[in-house]
Amino acid sequence: MYDKDMETDGYTGPGKVANVLAESQGDRRDIRVLDVAAGTGLCGEELSKLDFCNVDALDASQDMLDVAKTKNVYKNFIKEFLGSNRLGIDDDSYDAVIGSGLFATGHVKSDCLEQLIRIVKPGGAICLAIRENRLQTNEGCKDLESRMAALQSEGLWQQVSREIFPAYSSGDDGVVYLYTVL
Ligand SMILES: C[S@@+](CC[C@H](N)C(=O)[O-])C[C@H]1O[C@@H](n2cnc3c(N)ncnc32)[C@H](O)[C@@H]1O
Repeated sequence: MYDKDMETDGYTGPGKVANVLAESQGDRRDIRVLDVAAGTGLCGEELSKLDFCNVDALDASQDMLDVAKTKNVYKNFIKEFLGSNRLGIDDDSYDAVIGSGLFATGHVKSDCLEQLIRIVKPGGAICLAIRENRLQTNEGCKDLESRMAALQSEGLWQQVSREIFPAYSSGDDGVVYLYTVL
């Protein structure tokens, strides 16, 4: 149902983050990737098309993880809430984190970024996408870019690219961010 709605909506976020991450990686087959707020697994499906073979899914909803499981593109399924709370994942566990459609009021907020950085190895990548107009209009997203910049000032990560792209969802532009963890 969600996947059909997203198809009708022309939602391109998962394909975009997967491509941006793929372009930043040399040998992508074995790098360990975590799809955060994975939902029904659309990002995992896109990563699979690009030959990523070592991808885990994290979501707060068991129902969503159960749907993601049916896609046969993930290795492990992690039911965790993304926020300022410490995730039950060791430091430096992943080569990359990917996420699309996660930042919104009532969903994921910028307070989870430190945890995402903590679980990615130094030199690893974090690639996230959001609908561009949410940055101005959505209470949960208004501080996203200032928080991203603050974490860069603190020396935790470095922005590689920030690209506005057309037709993220419902014809609206999206923004895709790529960071290197320091
Ligand atoms: C709009 S869906 C996006 C799913 C997928 N990434 C995609 O692009 O289709 C948002 C997902 O975030 C999950 N979610 C919302 N808030 C969360 C949180 N704080 N921690 C973890 N998952 C959360 C929801 O359960 C839902 O599966």
